[in-house]
Amino acid sequence: MSETKIEKQKKIIAMFDDIAKSYDITNRILSLGIDRTWRRDSIKKALSLCRDQYLRIVDVACGTGDMLQFWYDGSNGREVDLLGIDPSSGMLEVAGKKLNGLKNVKLYQGMAQNLNMLDSSSVDIISIAFGIRNVADLQESVAEFSRVLKSGGILLILEFMREEKRGILNRLMKFYTTKILPLIGGIISRNYRAYTYLPNSIKDFKSAEELSEILKRYGLVTRVKRTYSAGIATLILCQKEIK
Ligand SMILES: C[S@@+](CC[C@H](N)C(=O)[O-])C[C@H]1O[C@@H](n2cnc3c(N)ncnc32)[C@H](O)[C@@H]1O
Repeated sequence: MSETKIEKQKKIIAMFDDIAKSYDITNRILSLGIDRTWRRDSIKKALSLCRDQYLRIVDVACGTGDMLQFWYDGSNGREVDLLGIDPSSGMLEVAGKKLNGLKNVKLYQGMAQNLNMLDSSSVDIISIAFGIRNVADLQESVAEFSRVLKSGGILLILEFMREEKRGILNRLMKFYTTKILPLIGGIISRNYRAYTYLPNSIKDFKSAEELSEILKRYGLVTRVKRTYSAGIATLILCQKEIK
């Protein structure tokens, strides 16, 4: 990573450390809990693409552990081995408390750009929810996802992505994320900056089409692309090419 990217990445991680304790409550209030439906549905769709009864699942940018909990609850009788990876010790601390006692769930401090704790072709599913926007080097991370996934393995990306459409709903959404969200998020977390970062990072991130193109270059072929709640969140499910 270049010096600028390293600095940018450090700032992002420090920001999550700072808001870690209030992250869950702020998130639930700001999303009115709708994110639970998105998470549950995307996991269901990912599992429908996998046939094995035993699955090794890695949740990158696991934050406070919500996706891990949903994977655990939604595994539908399959045996799952879950690993959550995140660079923020603050977020991992909250996740550790929340997931304490769950069988086969481990947490690891690390970044998407460097998954050296995982062997090549060793993972059935990687998920990254509202995390890929925060990764300073997108291509390095995608290369790592492709390396560690087994042939035919699934990558689940759930994210707020830039929308090209300019409908009324889109304008309302923009108003909410740029005006309301920083205000409410800022008050609860006492970190206004962290919640102005969100709309800016969405604006600076790729569209679903651009991201799919990048993923394809690394052998990750998009199988499912859909949006939730009138385009607020986007799900991309990719499969690593079978060779
Ligand atoms: C918006 S939170 C999402 C957390 C969780 N996935 C969820 O769905 O609630 C973004 C997370 O990305 C993590 N993050 C930031 N940079 C990262 C990187 N380079 N690699 C992996 N995770 C990163 C942050 O520490 C934070 O926990």
